[in-house]
Amino acid sequence: MTRQTHSRRDFLTRAATATALGLSGTTALSGVSAFATPNVQSPASGPTEGLIPYGSAVRAGALQSDSTYREAIIANCQLVVAEGEMKWADIRPTRGEYRFEKADAIIDFARQNRLEVRGHTLAWYGGLPKWVDEISSRTEAEYELIDHIKTVVSRYRGVIPSWDVVNEPLVDFPESAASLRPCVWTKYLGADYVPIALRTAAMVDPGARLVLNEYDVEFMGPRFAARRKALLQLLRALRDRDVPLHGVGLQAHLFADRAIDRDGLQAFLAEITAMKLDVLITELDVVDYELPGKVSERDALVAKKAAEFLGAVCEVVRPKAILTWGLSDRYTWVPIYFKRPDGMPNRPLPLDADLKRKPLFDVIEQFRRKLA
Ligand code: XIL
Repeated sequence: MTRQTHSRRDFLTRAATATALGLSGTTALSGVSAFATPNVQSPASGPTEGLIPYGSAVRAGALQSDSTYREAIIANCQLVVAEGEMKWADIRPTRGEYRFEKADAIIDFARQNRLEVRGHTLAWYGGLPKWVDEISSRTEAEYELIDHIKTVVSRYRGVIPSWDVVNEPLVDFPESAASLRPCVWTKYLGADYVPIALRTAAMVDPGARLVLNEYDVEFMGPRFAARRKALLQLLRALRDRDVPLHGVGLQAHLFADRAIDRDGLQAFLAEITAMKLDVLITELDVVDYELPGKVSERDALVAKKAAEFLGAVCEVVRPKAILTWGLSDRYTWVPIYFKRPDGMPNRPLPLDADLKRKPLFDVIEQFRRKLA
C-alpha cells in the first residue's frame, strides 16, 4: 500500500483558500466576562471535578445544524476550541475588516453551556486568506500581525483564557530553532514574528495563558527527534529573551503506524516542565488510514496508540487539558488528507459517527481520572 505523501505545508495552505462569510463589528463583546462556573458536571462521564479537563475542536456550522452533535459536545466536554472559525481566513476574509460572527457563535455556545474556550490560532503559516500575499514589507507585516492580535485578543479578553498564539513554527525536518517554516511572517519579520506575536498577546490580555503549539514531536525517528530538539531551542531562546510564554501544546495527531518515542518524549517533556511551562494536549486524534479495515480491530489499535502516548506523557507531567481535534468521526479533518485506500470512513476520534463511545473515549477517560 503506497503511503500518501502530502507536504503538510501544501495541504494547510490549500486549506487557507477557504474564505469566511460571517458578519459583525470589531468592537469588544459587550458584557462578556469569564464563564461563571465551567461545566464540571458532564452527564456523560459523571462528575469531572479535579480530573484533567477534556475538550474538543468544534465547528460553528455543525453546532448550529446538528443537534445530536451539539448535545454530545455539551455532555462530554469541559472546553472547546474553534476548528477554523478563529483562524485568519475566517476572521479576515478581506483586508482591513474583521468578521467575528462565526467565532462569536462558538463563544455564545460555550457561554450558554459553561464551556471554556481555547483560542486557535493567532500566528500560523496556514489558514491565511489570499490577501496576505499583498503584504510586501516588514512594516506592513508587523502592522497586520499586531493589529490582528490586538483586535482579536482584546475582543475575547477575559473570555478566552488560553491562546495558541504561535502554531507550527518549525519546518517539517528542522536543523535548529532557526528552521522556521517559510510564510509571510518569516518572509518580512524573520524569527522576530514569534516574540512579536507573544508580546502583543501578553500586552493585550495579561491574564491569558499563551501557548506555542506544535505537531510531530511524539514519535520515534530522526525527524521527530530533530523537531523536539529544535522546539526546545526555540523555547529556551524565548525564555532567555524574557518573551512571555506559559505553555506548549502537543497537537498529538498520532499515526497508528508510527512508534511513540517514550524516552525521547519524556526527556522532551521533562525539559519543558523544567522551564516551568505548562503542557497541553491540544489536537489529539489517531490517523488510522493504514490500519486494517475491521472496525473493532482498528478501534482497538487507535485506542492502544493513544494509551501509549498518554501513558508516556502522564508519567512525566499532568497535562493542563486534553483536547481532541473533534469529538466524533462525523466531523474530522483526517480524511481530507489521510483518506483510507479501502474507502472506509476514518475512525480517529473518541465517538464514532453515530456518537457512540469507542475504546479511545475510555482511554482518555482513564488518563483524565488517573491523575485526579
Ligand atoms: C485543520 C482543520 O481541521 C481543517 O478543517 C482545515 O482544512 C485545515 O486545518 N494542525 C492545526 C489545525 O493546528 O489548525 C489544523 O486544522 C490541523 C493541523
